[in-house]
Amino acid sequence: MKSDELFTEAQKYLVGGVGAGGRFHPLLSRPVYFSRGRGSHLWDVDGKRYIDFFTGSGANFLGHDHPAIRKAIQKALDIGIICNGETEYHARLAGLVSEAVPCAEKVRFANSGTEATMGAIRIARSFTKKYKILKFEGHFHGMHDYLWHNCSSGVGEIREDGTITPFPESAGVPEVLADLVVVLPFNDINTFARVVRAGKDELAAVIMEPVCYNQGCIPSDLGFLREVRNLCTEHGIVLIFDEVLSGFRMCRGGGQEYYGVTPDLCTLAKALGGGVPIAAVCGNAEIMSSLNPVGRTVMSGTYSGHLTAVMGAVACQTEIAKPGFYEHINVLADRLYKGITEALQVCGVPGIVQGIGARFGLYLGATEPVTHCRRLPVNREMEIRFIKGCLNRGLYLHDYGHTMHHGFSAQHSVADIDEALNVTEDALRDVKAKC
Ligand SMILES: Cc1ncc(COP(=O)(O)O)c(C=O)c1O
Repeated sequence: MKSDELFTEAQKYLVGGVGAGGRFHPLLSRPVYFSRGRGSHLWDVDGKRYIDFFTGSGANFLGHDHPAIRKAIQKALDIGIICNGETEYHARLAGLVSEAVPCAEKVRFANSGTEATMGAIRIARSFTKKYKILKFEGHFHGMHDYLWHNCSSGVGEIREDGTITPFPESAGVPEVLADLVVVLPFNDINTFARVVRAGKDELAAVIMEPVCYNQGCIPSDLGFLREVRNLCTEHGIVLIFDEVLSGFRMCRGGGQEYYGVTPDLCTLAKALGGGVPIAAVCGNAEIMSSLNPVGRTVMSGTYSGHLTAVMGAVACQTEIAKPGFYEHINVLADRLYKGITEALQVCGVPGIVQGIGARFGLYLGATEPVTHCRRLPVNREMEIRFIKGCLNRGLYLHDYGHTMHHGFSAQHSVADIDEALNVTEDALRDVKAKC
């Protein structure tokens, strides 16, 4: 197979044969080598066609090769590959974001979600003149040293004060940073209230995924979220919603519109640009004024707000704002999640699907809704068999070696969802037969 040949060649020059660690597919023992993406489909170099349920980890929210994004990028190329320069399109994109996202009075661009969360906590630290950041177990905020603690590689010990021992997700993260990170269980308001009251003088920010898609799809409990908002306001702590995945995913205003809870700052990426490398920190004008050139907090870069990405994102945001956009997303979401639930029952496989908007988690082996991120009730053997069954039958699900989120794009059709459901049922029969 050409894929195997490419992998052999790639290993000569690329570490582990991949340009980015997460692209290695552990269930295939190599990456998938794509040759083409169109609409809801991907093709690999061996000619296999897949319905795409990975969608670039959620970035390809408008599917592949969307004509509006393609046209915008073409126009950007005609203008010139302008790096580190402002154009009329930067404020246009910021205006679209501001119109859509409740907290976004002001916007600053970055290239990736990691960069955006790094910027957001820097702003919070400089604004509050405090240094500790509170995060929740299982929530992922990118791979910079400060926040890459307690995501998916294990479970920290619960200490007497209710906090969880922070552990880094990568070698090379300085141990001293663990002193600046407070890790708490998700959706546990009593522990949160106690720890925040005790630590308010040191806590600069609380950062969270309003819907924790990085553990599949675990919603915030609404009462919990409202109380988190109240306590942050009461104690001068900046509340940051990391909406890198939830932004635009179920409605134009993302998790904050969905719950009706407005954070002080939020981070956006992925669906912001529909596949182009762009991210943003947005928020309350007073707090955002900490940023240079108005304030002394620095956040800039050669490629930040690169013109090709900005113009692609303007096109993506213009599509998202069109009437009927979310009706389509919600029709597909309902059909898919009901269909998977039925398939689980028909095949006699225990499991729960949880989805909000265009992304979902499938917890094979679970019998109750999943509400927290500690030791997910997932049967990994079943999960592996299921994903392999889907891949073999042309439904592309990625895997990072643990339970993750899957999803569809705006270019998926009802027919794509039905085809995916047929594959799902067949793959679940494999699971039933062999586990
Ligand atoms: C919630 C969240 N925050 C931050 C990130 C990091 O974004 P990026 O991969 O663009 O650095 C991700 C990536 O999946 C994410 O899901």
